[in-house]
Amino acid sequence: MTIDADLRARAERVIPGGMWGHTAIDRQPPGYPQFFERADGCRIWDVDGRASIDFICSWGPVVLGHHDPDVEAAVRAQAARGDSLNGPSPRLVELAELLVDLVPHADWAMFSKNGTDATTACVTIARAGTGRRKVLVAHGAYHGAAPWCTPSLVGVTAEDRAHLIEFDYNDAASLRTAAAVAGGDLAAVIVSGFKHDLGKNHELATPDFAQAAREVCDAAGAALIVDDVRAGFRLDLGGSWETVGVRPDLSAFSKAIANGYPLAAVVGGNRFRDAASRVFVTGSFWTAAVPMAAAIATLTKLRQTDGIAHMRAMGERLRAGLEDQSRARGFRLIQSGPPQMPLVLFADDPGRALGLAFCREALARGVYLHHVHTMFLSTAHTPADIDEALDATDRAFAALASTRPSSSKPALRA
Ligand SMILES: Cc1ncc(COP(=O)(O)O)c(C=O)c1O
Repeated sequence: MTIDADLRARAERVIPGGMWGHTAIDRQPPGYPQFFERADGCRIWDVDGRASIDFICSWGPVVLGHHDPDVEAAVRAQAARGDSLNGPSPRLVELAELLVDLVPHADWAMFSKNGTDATTACVTIARAGTGRRKVLVAHGAYHGAAPWCTPSLVGVTAEDRAHLIEFDYNDAASLRTAAAVAGGDLAAVIVSGFKHDLGKNHELATPDFAQAAREVCDAAGAALIVDDVRAGFRLDLGGSWETVGVRPDLSAFSKAIANGYPLAAVVGGNRFRDAASRVFVTGSFWTAAVPMAAAIATLTKLRQTDGIAHMRAMGERLRAGLEDQSRARGFRLIQSGPPQMPLVLFADDPGRALGLAFCREALARGVYLHHVHTMFLSTAHTPADIDEALDATDRAFAALASTRPSSSKPALRA
């Protein structure tokens, strides 16, 4: 029995379902490990000692690579002084100053732990600032796991969702229709940094759609909220919608902010400063100093090294390699999303079985991919790492091709 299988069996006895949420056992591709032992740079080791080049990066937080030396030095220095104190440390003010400096639409910042904390606080602040109730949400978008936004309706009441109205991302007409339904009760429009729904082609926000969202909010006096929890600090250090020239009123960040240390941030403009000071949001661990020290080190290094450009270049290298390999083996890929946050789907693969089989073949050769979720590059991925990963994926495509029924194999070229 593998160590992973043994831990899964023990977990089944003492943890409901063996694990919860998106890393639950039954949500992992078959053959994927549930438990990990350690990680370094762009590599991760499962509990059975199998190493992989990591393209999930802890589902986004690890942006400088696991164990970045500068972040770890800042963490050690802060831990030696104190983490959970009776209130915030000076790092709180320093980090808020850094975010206000980095993010053009930010006049202030507040901190919590998870992305859900931050998106929920944005909605609460928008309602407090406008005195209204309705929130427009893109159909199929993920904004967290609280009752108002979780994709599962188990344990959720209709009242939890009573004031949400859906529209389609990148569809300005549907956004305007939803705003008309909300009428004078429109508090906010919440949109993710780009469209990154599970298992669906990813789409960057179009400038027209982003502009329409700004106009809808301005016309109604509502708040435009960008949920930058997933995309934040990988598209643009000033917030993802800087790339389309539209500035929101409020943004939620988390994931990449502190290279894996638990932290989330809400930033906003002066219009919502008073509302942000009136809502009651807090948590026992929200002022912990170590993650804030990690965030200062992470964001400073991303800025100084132009980390986003590096991640983008590495993502482009991966994308081009996968494209060539798939064509050579007679597969057609649909690659979407920004290169540094890629989604790789197979064409004509409605049940995603082909994608899943490919990911399993890649994992068996030391590359950790995902068949339906956004993947993530980090600044620790070097050209040599990408080439090593591509060497493995080439063999994975070959293995996949050899198991394909002969009727679906491409005709041999003369
Ligand atoms: C766009 C977006 N918003 C919110 C969240 C929720 O963040 P968390 O899981 O940290 O609560 C996520 C998490 O994946 C996300 O991708």
